[in-house]
Amino acid sequence: MKRLQEKMEQEGRVLSAHVLKVDSFLNHQIDPQLMKEIGEAFAELFQKAGITKIVTLESSGIAPSVMTGLVLGVPVLFARKRQSLTMTDDLLTADVYSFTKETTNRIAVSNTFLTKEDTVLIIDDFLANGQAALGLIDIVQQAGSAIAGIGIVIEKSFQNGRTLLEEKGMRVESLARIDSLQDGHIQFKEEVAK
Ligand code: G4P
Ligand code: NA
Ligand code: NA
Repeated sequence: MKRLQEKMEQEGRVLSAHVLKVDSFLNHQIDPQLMKEIGEAFAELFQKAGITKIVTLESSGIAPSVMTGLVLGVPVLFARKRQSLTMTDDLLTADVYSFTKETTNRIAVSNTFLTKEDTVLIIDDFLANGQAALGLIDIVQQAGSAIAGIGIVIEKSFQNGRTLLEEKGMRVESLARIDSLQDGHIQFKEEVAK
């Protein structure tokens, strides 16, 4: 997605050879117009997949997911990282290991919002080592819902997340793919015409 790549080049800050800071439009401050275009892009990619629900992870997955849900006309369910006071239903949970933080965190959704009749699109802001996406896949599969694919805003193609997801037979669609962050520069994997 050309607009996204331009925004990453203009406002992204390469913090190291493996971390890109995008706090001005995705991870802290949010650019609603760009999110809207991201939602339209995901909706177009998955428009024929019969999506009934979007599943994401708080907090940075929510904005692109809501915009996609708006276009597709389906609800957005976000997994929580912390136990909620009001989430008293039976929970579906998965343990997600973070390589950067070297900790394991439990993520959870209420089992009332996913059924065997659902076809789910999983969305997240970043794909790095794929552990968050794998946790979301686990939760959706516990509910017996079908998974149409994974929509990622920014994929770091030099990390192994995509490989792990494809090994599970998942369709992975990323709007921007970073080949390398060497020398403070974003090298994209391929120039997308759009
Ligand atoms: P890891 O696989 O590399 O260990 O990363 P991990 O899943 O633990 O991700 C930790 C957090 O960092 C996640 O956000 C993830 O989206 C984000 N992240 C991973 N790589 C990058 C990167 O290059 N740039 C940015 N900006 N974020 C990255 P989170 O903790 O779930 O936070 P949030 O969803 O509340 O924003
Ligand atoms: Na994040
Ligand atoms: Na995230």
